[in-house]
Amino acid sequence: MVTAHGERRVAIVTGGAQGIGLAAARRLARDGFSVAVFDIERTALSRVQQELLNAGVPALGVQVNVCDPGAVADGVSRVEAELGRPFVLVNCAGVLVVRPTLELALEEWRRVIDTNLTGYFICAQAVGRSLAATGLGGRIVNVASVHSESPSAGLAAYDASKGGIWMLTKSLALEFAPMGITVNAVGPGLIVNTALAGPANDEYLAGTVPQIPLGRAGEPEDVAGPISFLCSDDARYVTGVMLYVDGGMLLTAHT
Ligand SMILES: NC(=O)c1ccc[n+]([C@@H]2O[C@H](COP(=O)([O-])OP(=O)(O)OC[C@H]3O[C@@H](n4cnc5c(N)ncnc54)[C@H](O)[C@@H]3O)[C@@H](O)[C@H]2O)c1
Repeated sequence: MVTAHGERRVAIVTGGAQGIGLAAARRLARDGFSVAVFDIERTALSRVQQELLNAGVPALGVQVNVCDPGAVADGVSRVEAELGRPFVLVNCAGVLVVRPTLELALEEWRRVIDTNLTGYFICAQAVGRSLAATGLGGRIVNVASVHSESPSAGLAAYDASKGGIWMLTKSLALEFAPMGITVNAVGPGLIVNTALAGPANDEYLAGTVPQIPLGRAGEPEDVAGPISFLCSDDARYVTGVMLYVDGGMLLTAHT
């Protein structure tokens, strides 16, 4: 997004090397942001940085584990030094473990909660400090899930992390509002062609797509537009909301 003074605003997208985060990074770049991507996947990171630079977009890929507060703080400092102070944080880095609770290892539980929930907190705190220092407001968008509201057997850690993200979003929205920082969530449904969801598999889709009123699984690009909207000036009076991007899936959810 370009300011009234013709400057590109700066967005940080975590988990932006692949999947929904990558689609969001590309979309924000197209919508006029300079884009920094935080991810652990070094090769995919340099690919996205090069792609954005080739398109003439000021961009930076930083290898950051969102669970590591020191690495996140260093990453934010690099963004400030090389692209300018951020205006937007999209928290998207996430992992999924599918296993019945009675067989779930404590390390697996911790990995999901650390990445999906604590990682979002760590990044929101670090970027929140940077945003607060500018006094110019900002935008935080947390990528949650239909699992913030609707559980599935075998997803206890993931469901708990995504439910936690929704409450974290509302809590931060309340706390950051006096600084002009909006905090919202998007809740994707079934989004295929990402590493987390796996490539679209005919058998899996055949079982799931009938539960989606719009009649198809989503693509990462279906989520990128709503994320960009929540980062835009048009969303300046929107805070503390969850925007589900699920083709109506939650309308048919039952537990
Ligand atoms: N795909 C879906 O159906 C779906 C549905 C709802 C919500 N989501 C959520 O969307 C987000 C993105 O999912 P996706 O499907 O695009 O997955 P993905 O696996 O394609 O992308 C996730 C990215 O996060 C990165 N990442 C993982 N752990 C990290 C860490 N500790 N530090 C930094 N980066 C890390 C990965 O390297 C990867 O690039 C996740 O939060 C996921 O829970 C996905």
